[in-house]
Amino acid sequence: MSDLLKEIGKRKTFGIIAHPDAGKTTLTEKLLLFGGAIQEAGAVKSNKIKKGATSDFMEIERQRGISVATSVLAFEYKGHKINILDTPGHKDFAEDTYRTLTAVDSVIVVVDVAKGVEEQTEKLVQVCRMRNIPMIVFINKLDREGKDAFDLLDEVEQKLGLTVVPLSLPIGMGNEFQGIYNIWEHNIQLFVEEKKQRVGSAVKFEDISDTKIDEAIGAKAAATLREELELIQEVYPEFNRDDYMAGNLQPVFFGSALNNFGVRELLDAFIEIAPNPQPKESDTRLVRPEEKDFTGFIFKIHANMDPKHRDRLAFVKIVSGTFKRNENYLLVRENKKMKFSSPNAFFADKKEVVDESFPGDIVGLHDTGNFRIGDTLTAGEKMSFRGIPNFSPEHFRYINNDDPLKAKQLAKGIDQLMDEGVAQLFTLEMNNRKIIGTVGALQYEVIQYRLEHEYGAKCTYEPLSIHKACWIEADEKSDEYNEFVRLKQRFMARDKYGQMVFLADSPFTIQMTQEKFPNIKLHFISEFR
Ligand code: G4P
Repeated sequence: MSDLLKEIGKRKTFGIIAHPDAGKTTLTEKLLLFGGAIQEAGAVKSNKIKKGATSDFMEIERQRGISVATSVLAFEYKGHKINILDTPGHKDFAEDTYRTLTAVDSVIVVVDVAKGVEEQTEKLVQVCRMRNIPMIVFINKLDREGKDAFDLLDEVEQKLGLTVVPLSLPIGMGNEFQGIYNIWEHNIQLFVEEKKQRVGSAVKFEDISDTKIDEAIGAKAAATLREELELIQEVYPEFNRDDYMAGNLQPVFFGSALNNFGVRELLDAFIEIAPNPQPKESDTRLVRPEEKDFTGFIFKIHANMDPKHRDRLAFVKIVSGTFKRNENYLLVRENKKMKFSSPNAFFADKKEVVDESFPGDIVGLHDTGNFRIGDTLTAGEKMSFRGIPNFSPEHFRYINNDDPLKAKQLAKGIDQLMDEGVAQLFTLEMNNRKIIGTVGALQYEVIQYRLEHEYGAKCTYEPLSIHKACWIEADEKSDEYNEFVRLKQRFMARDKYGQMVFLADSPFTIQMTQEKFPNIKLHFISEFR
């Protein structure tokens, strides 16, 4: 086997998605502990925005700092190289998470046993479903009182639109929690108190009628367990890896991240079933990881924390071939040859300059303003990867220059912040006024603050009543389209890439427009072709 194939076979790149507080940070930390990548709990910083701190600039900076540090956390486990990509759970950073999901090969969805499926989880899982990303569900906090396991499985199926297959089953819950029956490995992990710490010890048995089970958890619990397992066999499909890989079947595990319970089982199943780096569609062809020539795409750009050095770090997911330091690569959009003398690779607690990286890996490239989110890099081939869409923002405001002497700085600042994906810029066709669209209100403060501190420019905002940005698909030569543009000219704008957008002021307007102009398709996502 060639070195490249070996390296691809070792790699698993995934993201953990969860509603804030479900336990993503805790789980990440426990996974890293297993990999020996960190030595103690508390080493992984939560990128959560503290409650009530939304207008605190220090909080924004703290968040940015942590976000750089936790962008990629890599560790080794049983001969595999595992890359965890960070996905902020806060809804104001949802776009960042959507983009990161274009760079993962699978995800683990964390659900709180008491709260069940929450809003942010629903949205993120929807994006994963659109892309058929293989998903494993981890139901967390079993040491607490929560919902009944079967009710939760139903909820996950209904609210998330998944087809689940439980690969473990809790025995009791909260105070009564005794452990987990591992359907995948056919054993029971007991949750016992030892030296004031809850630790797991495994009970191995031949089959489910084994009396060792009764001894371990008591006759009553054993009887319930047998009944439940029978029910599982009747109701749920058998686990099938092909269906999981195709995004049609989602295995479920139960555990407690905080108590490090059920996490090893999750990780062992993950390395066995989760996909290695996958092929990716481009505008011309399907690119396979095992191809010799390097290709990759940029899914995240992070500005330097030090405003004096305006260089940025662009995160590239390697799709195919071997990425080498100091080699000439093509930035396809600009048709520009570039060489990288100090590409960074990421580990749990540090980043390091690397000579070679392989499919599934993320490298950080220093950038002085060349890159844009979604850019493709190749060894020379002219093709672009698909799949980094913009979603319609939720908030819209006019942005005005507040210091006429700094117009240039403002324009440059806006341009670069938009390249980073902090927000989206729309320019009205009628009068060239600039509108900033964001997913959360917090971004307006981030932009204002960063424009001032990094670019020396000042801006103010003006409210604007827009409901959604609709990307337009239409025959631009048709009479219908011309009539539409004439009627709606006050609401027509271009996005940063020159695509035509209709800024609809209400759901009603969208409905009326669709009825009146049936051949004009309105999309709430920039990539629809
Ligand atoms: P997030 O990244 O998804 O936002 O969640 P995070 O891991 O920060 O966990 C949120 C809270 O839930 C934390 O408590 C964490 O300790 C707790 N938690 C995580 N897993 C478990 C579990 O298995 N059982 C129980 N009982 N709690 C769990 P916190 O009080 O908000 O923070 P901290 O001060 O304890 O860090």
